[in-house]
Amino acid sequence: MRGRGHAPVNIALCKYWGKRDKELNLPVTSSLSMSMTGLGATTEIRPCAGTHDRITLNGQEVDPSQAFASRLSAYLHLFRPTGISFEVDTTSDVPVGAGLASSAAGFAAIVLALNDLFGWELDPPSLSILARLGSGSACRSIHSGFVEWQAGERADGMDSYATPLSEEWPELMIGWLPLSTDEKPISSREAMLRTVETSRLYTAWPEQVANDLAIIKQAITDHSLEALGPAVESNALAMHATMWAAWPPVNYWLPETLAVLQQVWKLRAEGLALYFTMDAGPNVKLIYQKQDQPTIRQAFPEIHI
Ligand code: DP6
Repeated sequence: MRGRGHAPVNIALCKYWGKRDKELNLPVTSSLSMSMTGLGATTEIRPCAGTHDRITLNGQEVDPSQAFASRLSAYLHLFRPTGISFEVDTTSDVPVGAGLASSAAGFAAIVLALNDLFGWELDPPSLSILARLGSGSACRSIHSGFVEWQAGERADGMDSYATPLSEEWPELMIGWLPLSTDEKPISSREAMLRTVETSRLYTAWPEQVANDLAIIKQAITDHSLEALGPAVESNALAMHATMWAAWPPVNYWLPETLAVLQQVWKLRAEGLALYFTMDAGPNVKLIYQKQDQPTIRQAFPEIHI
């Protein structure tokens, strides 16, 4: 008896940053992402005897005391029949814990694997809700393409899940620059809590999101990178500004991060339609159109597209 699931990495164009309920991972605001086809996590899960879950990541057994393993085991506890442990075998296409949305793809893949294992046959909103319990952004990785996570209003979170947008935009490209794959200094979970609790700038965040989300959705409908890019870039910078204003300050940037941003701004000043976004890590994701791929590859030879 075994279950299998695969889920894509998703990159938020309008970020989820801050919770109204930290047990259920209910967000303060809605958010919107783009799933990356071809990059994701694949998970196989089997019930087994024994007192511990056995977790393997990319072929290597993970020590149960590691944060990754204990978080996963705690999550599996929500579904565990009495006396059952699990063998979980995950393959991730992106480094874990480096701000590359690995946990989002990972928890979504686990939910799909559990759904397969137990034969739940859950509908997409229910799968998205279960993924959200593992990691907020995971609720968006249940779907491909552009995905919106509605914040919802209910205290039980049953209206807080992600749905795919019907729009497609095949010319829109997203590539990431692997500046560092070291594990981040502070988890996004902790950083988010600290920001909400201590950052004065956080009060401005919900309004920023409402504004950016409307622009981003319209830009996707219109296939307008000129409208999308500034909203996406400003949204990411505003999120990092709320972190810098937290105490103790939260910083994910490396000197190389700023150097890339300056290069993006320089290329844009020279006429290239190139924008960036960043998550809870030093790596930069570039957003541009297919026609500019050769120029981008030349300017950033290390890019993964
Ligand atoms: C910066 O989903 O990792 O990537 O709900 O605590 O697990 P938890 O947080 P998580 O936070 C993601 C934050 C982000 C922005 C985003 O993906 O929207």
